[in-house]
Amino acid sequence: MKIADRIEVAMTAAIQRGQGGVAPAKLAAALGYAVTPGGARIRPTILMSVAMACGDDRTMLTDAAAVALELMHCASLVHDDLPCFDDADLRRGKPAVHRAFSEPLAVLAGDSLIIMAFQVLTAAAADVPVRALGLIEILGERSGMPFGICAGQGWESETNIDLSAYHQAKTGALFIAATQMGAVAAGQDAEPWEELGARLGEAFQVADDLRDALCDEATLGKPAGQDDLHGRPNAVASFGVRGAVQRFDDILGGAISSIPACPGEAALAQMVRAYADKLVPAGARNRPTVAGE
Ligand code: IPE
Ligand code: IPE
Ligand code: MG
Ligand code: MG
Repeated sequence: MKIADRIEVAMTAAIQRGQGGVAPAKLAAALGYAVTPGGARIRPTILMSVAMACGDDRTMLTDAAAVALELMHCASLVHDDLPCFDDADLRRGKPAVHRAFSEPLAVLAGDSLIIMAFQVLTAAAADVPVRALGLIEILGERSGMPFGICAGQGWESETNIDLSAYHQAKTGALFIAATQMGAVAAGQDAEPWEELGARLGEAFQVADDLRDALCDEATLGKPAGQDDLHGRPNAVASFGVRGAVQRFDDILGGAISSIPACPGEAALAQMVRAYADKLVPAGARNRPTVAGE
């Protein structure tokens, strides 16, 4: 099965389990709405690609890890769009969960998805408990405090933002989780895979800044120009469009050369390059130089 199909099949199964029984209908619907159709599914794709590069000898555990990570990501988006955070009306080309349902249901849907992420991992643990425990530990570390998404969102409430810690926690953390969980699902050590995840996360953040500055709402499927609007520090403001593209290429080069030795090293490098090509908006590379850039 192709990676994209593996992800969708496993995601659907997890959500259907959460919607079963005599569950409250609106919250059950909000879970499906928050997760499908998905966005780029970049984190579970990286996770599965790393697992495959390492042998992928427990495919059910890899599927569970990919689902858990994407559920956590989807939950973070539901919460991020709430009025108390970014107050965004649009996500993945449709009304954000709090708009389509309500604020209480968006809070609960996000909470349920976070809990579901860990339930998916515990359900897959029987066969390989030590690996599953490792996955739970990584997902927790990269989601909570002090290194995870919660920390990343928390920086937005500080007067003085440590930009590097902010980006690492907000975006980088789940990319580190992606590479490390892929390795652990396939029975490898997590530690050698941290650098690749961190560099991919940094590159992704730069590409996200470029898309935010250059693309429109219809292309993004979410509000554009948010960094400027909220006065958030970002790569385009710091380096200009060309500088940001250069920075993306530099970070990506470093990411590829940091791939640990493994049986599928070449295929993984190829996958990273192919994905990276899609991340930078087409206009960014052939943009004429603008004064001051
Ligand atoms: C959006 O992530 C949140 C950021 C960390 C910038 P993605 O761009 O991966 O969102 P989806 O999953 O494709 O919608
Ligand atoms: C969202 O960050 C990342 C999370 C940790 C939820 P942003 O607020 O910068 O991303 P978008 O633009 O809403 O996707
Ligand atoms: Mg935000
Ligand atoms: Mg946001």
